[in-house]
Amino acid sequence: MAQGAIRFLRRGVVVEHRIANPMQTVLDYLRLDLRHKGTKEGCNEGDCGACTVAIGRLRGGKVQYEPANACIMLVAHLHGCELVTVDDLAVDGKLHPVQQAMVDHHGSQCGFCTPGFVMSLFALYHEEGKPNRQQIVDQLAGNLCRCTGYRPIIAAASDACRGDAKDLWASAAADIAAELKTLNDGSDVFCGTGDSFAAVPAKAETLLDLCAKHPDATIVAGATDVGLWITKQMRSLPKLIFTGKVEALHAITDRVATLSLGSAVTYAEAERQLAAIAPDMGEVLRRIGSKQVRSSGTIGGNIANGSPIGDMPPMLIALGTRIMLKKGDEQRDLFLEDYFIDYGKQDRKPGELLWRIDIPKLKSNERFFAHKLSKRFDQDISAVMAAFKFVISGRTIASATLAFGGMAATPKRAKKTEAAIKDLKLDAPETWEAAVATLAQDFKPLTDMRASAAYRLETAQALLLKALHELVGEKPASLRVLAPAGKEAWT
Ligand code: FES
Ligand code: FES
Repeated sequence: MAQGAIRFLRRGVVVEHRIANPMQTVLDYLRLDLRHKGTKEGCNEGDCGACTVAIGRLRGGKVQYEPANACIMLVAHLHGCELVTVDDLAVDGKLHPVQQAMVDHHGSQCGFCTPGFVMSLFALYHEEGKPNRQQIVDQLAGNLCRCTGYRPIIAAASDACRGDAKDLWASAAADIAAELKTLNDGSDVFCGTGDSFAAVPAKAETLLDLCAKHPDATIVAGATDVGLWITKQMRSLPKLIFTGKVEALHAITDRVATLSLGSAVTYAEAERQLAAIAPDMGEVLRRIGSKQVRSSGTIGGNIANGSPIGDMPPMLIALGTRIMLKKGDEQRDLFLEDYFIDYGKQDRKPGELLWRIDIPKLKSNERFFAHKLSKRFDQDISAVMAAFKFVISGRTIASATLAFGGMAATPKRAKKTEAAIKDLKLDAPETWEAAVATLAQDFKPLTDMRASAAYRLETAQALLLKALHELVGEKPASLRVLAPAGKEAWT
């Protein structure tokens, strides 16, 4: 029997909330319903971090706090979680250690960005170990400050996060974990009517039934894209089915030859395993959105929405990824590249759900490169995303899989160039440029606000040439390790 309300933890109390508007964001809930206005609205599209809150979730029996953008997070996402906002931190007028550090290091001037910074720091404060400068910078990449500047904020982070957490949340960790376990008791939630609802199923069969019964519903994973349909495109999405509480969709199965991810696995959950496949993938992951976006956004969502500029699909296509889709008792699997049919058109039938993503790992004779080109290093949308896998036989390229984003209406392989690259000799670099020039036959990119067509084609060719040069100079992939802070290193 489904519950008619979501339940989440805040300030040590279980909040039971009947969702009246399925599209309501956490930010609107806080500011408009509760009048808790410490959490600020800036961009309202997940870019500035002013609205950052911390979400506590049970991971491996422990509570883990992750920052999230309240402006594009929907209230239904709170089910089974703990919500912590900037209004919750000070106790009896005494500032939280991260707030005090911001004061001590003069980390705030106008203060508009400050609540968001404080909440990103709160999440970092609860991570194990002392963060280094790079980890602090990565943590704050999704928070914009236009007056104070980052130096004092980084100093505040370094000061506050140098030891074990000692606050209300740390001292109540066992109780919070027990409460979250109770809240995640496997019950399905259905708020609303047949025409307008927020459904948060916990059972896989309930999710499949709902999708079959409501093929017109919007499937919501992390809402890092769907949130913008609501806040920016003002779309009406009366039927929302949330995938995040189905345990099977959070499964990460790491086998010798394949990494399998349930479609609701977030970037944050899979970052370590994906980076272990190829350091380049780890480096691109570090630049997808921000910590806030990566803690909510899912690999499955990045595929399912069919964007031609998603960062994951080119990398997954180059690796030969297959996906499994489910509808009721039926399931089918296909190569990811075949899922993308045309702009806005994917091979997903009404009521069908992306269920699992199977990513082949590199073999000893395979090399992988990935490059993201964007105007900003952090938190930007790609102008060109390139991913290459080469199979090497002796000193010859036996085959290549070259996949691009931003070059066509869908993420796409460069099949003519792949044919031109095949059998190239690693010791004959004078033959490479002609093969690389074939990209002009594969793609006729568009000019838009991110890049001109000429820039896209020229940089795509340059990236491929760069990869060929790196191929000659590099050690075997099996010897690569990931250095701290995502920097590539060699054993
Ligand atoms: Fe800017 Fe939410 S208001 S990220
Ligand atoms: Fe003004 Fe950061 S203190 S924007």
